[in-house]
Amino acid sequence: MEGRPRERVGIAVVLVVLVGAVAPVGDLSPVGYGFMSGMTIEPADASRGDLAEILRNYERFWGGRGEQLRYLHHPMFLLEFGDTAFVARRDDDGEIAGYLFGFVGPAGYGYIHLVGVRDDVRSAGIGRMLYDRFTEEAVRRGATALKAITSPQNEVSLAFHTRMGFTDMERFDDYAGSGQVRIVMRKQLRSEPLS
Ligand SMILES: CC(C)(COP(=O)(O)OP(=O)(O)OC[C@H]1O[C@@H](n2cnc3c(N)ncnc32)[C@H](O)[C@@H]1OP(=O)(O)O)[C@@H](O)C(=O)NCCC(=O)NCCS
Repeated sequence: MEGRPRERVGIAVVLVVLVGAVAPVGDLSPVGYGFMSGMTIEPADASRGDLAEILRNYERFWGGRGEQLRYLHHPMFLLEFGDTAFVARRDDDGEIAGYLFGFVGPAGYGYIHLVGVRDDVRSAGIGRMLYDRFTEEAVRRGATALKAITSPQNEVSLAFHTRMGFTDMERFDDYAGSGQVRIVMRKQLRSEPLS
């Protein structure tokens, strides 16, 4: 008789593992704080090799932009701003499916420096989940607004940020050097005016 409850627990655990393993990415739905079925959001960790894994799979996140943006992946975003750097990790194979590096600046902006979702799991809500997790942490640290930068050619990024509630899009012609146009995107989080 004593063995029965243990058997039931064993079966339940196996079922949970199986459901997690076969759940298609498109069916992911939020079920709790920083977690969705099949995917877990956790702080990025350089000592675990997270940055190395991201850079190994760089093309999967950034595609045809080649080496252009690799230099933006400075280790300080994990080592010095690790509390506001997150990875979305697949529960089945443990691989990083998406990441966000950011920080809260002295002017009260939660600044999103980089966000990337692997090409095989896009449009499944992972980018939004990373933004939600970052926003939560940024607000906890006193952020009153969010800021992110993109290029005018990156239509996907512009569409994504619009869906994330970024309503203030400002063009800077020489933002990153002569002729290096960028769009500065802002989202108000509280009633204080944007600087
Ligand atoms: C931009 C990026 C991070 C979006 O990640 P994602 O996980 O695919 O986005 P999500 O599934 O969470 O989508 C969130 C919202 O953005 C919208 N969106 C996402 N991709 C979109 C696209 N290609 N076109 C239009 N809207 C899009 C979704 O419709 C969704 O809106 P909803 O939740 O209101 O329905 C991803 O496409 C990516 O990594 N691109 C390459 C790297 C890059 O350009 N990063 C941004 C640099 S600033």
